[in-house]
Amino acid sequence: MDRIRIVGGKPLNGTIPVSGAKNAALPLMIASLLTRETLTLENVPRLADVNLLIRILGNQGVDYRLDGKRVGDAPHAGQTIHLDAPTIVDTTAPYDLVSRMRASFWVIAPLLARMGEAKVSLPGGCAIGTRPVDLLLMALEKLGADLEIDSGYVIAKAKKGLRGGEIDFPKVTVGGTHTALMAASLAHGSTLIKNAACEPEVRDLADCLVKMGARIKGAGTSTIEIEGVASLSGARHAVLPDRIEAGTYAFAVAMTGGEILLEGADESLLPVVLDVLRETGARVEQTSRGLIVARNGGGIKPVDIITEPFPGFPTDLQAQFMALMTRAEGTSHITETIFENRFMHVQELARLGARIRLAGDVAIVEGREKLKGAPVMATDLRASVSLVIAALAAEGETLVHRVYHLDRGFERLEEKLQACGAQVERLREPG
Ligand code: UD1
Repeated sequence: MDRIRIVGGKPLNGTIPVSGAKNAALPLMIASLLTRETLTLENVPRLADVNLLIRILGNQGVDYRLDGKRVGDAPHAGQTIHLDAPTIVDTTAPYDLVSRMRASFWVIAPLLARMGEAKVSLPGGCAIGTRPVDLLLMALEKLGADLEIDSGYVIAKAKKGLRGGEIDFPKVTVGGTHTALMAASLAHGSTLIKNAACEPEVRDLADCLVKMGARIKGAGTSTIEIEGVASLSGARHAVLPDRIEAGTYAFAVAMTGGEILLEGADESLLPVVLDVLRETGARVEQTSRGLIVARNGGGIKPVDIITEPFPGFPTDLQAQFMALMTRAEGTSHITETIFENRFMHVQELARLGARIRLAGDVAIVEGREKLKGAPVMATDLRASVSLVIAALAAEGETLVHRVYHLDRGFERLEEKLQACGAQVERLREPG
């Protein structure tokens, strides 16, 4: 397995282009199952999860075509993918594929809405808590689906098609909202989603569905109304920038010092995060090209955070923020409210010298002046990148093992960091 070697201690200076958002690209690709026509997605990041989803969708009968480079393209422009599902050949999504990426479970919604049936394996994905799908299934039932769970598969049927209904989520769920949006777009009649997720990626999916002919109002707020239509058409849509990637590099420079331009990053996607970053002592400025983040001199101030659904502090940046706090001038409290088991990075950060105590869903981080490089193990996607950030600021060499987690969600990580002066390299497994 590949490893990443980092020799820390250098400030980051330069420009990092922000890729398209993984968490928007995945549901957008899945939406291609809703139409017989071509869905063209621009600014799709080059990630292992995207490639895996292409394989999963291929099983269902989705063809894909990738555009080559075009005149005037920026050197690292995202890819353009054309997805075509004229005929759905299989309504089953098997265990060996779905167990590798949780979001692929969401194919259940378009398959059911378009074909009246779907058989999808219960999901796997990052090991961060139990992550049930009860709310996704509740939403489908409210739209008239008959559900059965058999041998690890959800078997969903709606022989006469789905019908509109009222879905009131007892807890905010991004996946539940994506699923409900896709299913309701092709249901008979109108649907009301209450306590919907307000994440920008939900709005991005809704914007694309509207381009495909869906009738959706209120996406991006907690109440969404959908008037079902008989069929959807093709469309062209550009994936929004990745706020988690942008936030990750912003915390990195806040930790190492220096100044970076996060090209294409948009402050409206990172409301609480940027306030917190400023409180830690970093300078943040929106320009027409993107966000400039800098910390030149001055210590890192400790700040307490609580993870919350959008627009609150995202759980997907909790581990990275913890890395920053390990070098703060004092103690900070980090409360995780979204996933119950999302502190696996704590013991790995401790290997670099961090002082962190856990008390239930709170991590108490006692900042210290120096961290020291060590061998560490990546445990999940966001946790792994927190180790990379900490290693960039640590003295000496860190070897990050199991980097396939990083490849699932961070495009060209080493290259982007190298361009800003970091000493990072990938050690490839021979053969
Ligand atoms: C998505 C993101 C993930 C992010 C998370 C929260 C993608 C591909 N993944 O995951 O990166 O960390 O949102 O912002 O977009 N829950 C239930 N029952 C359900 C569904 C969810 O209890 O049926 C719970 C979960 O266990 C969790 C909370 O609801 O405690 C939020 O989960 P959810 O928003 O659904 O996360 P995902 O959509 O899986």
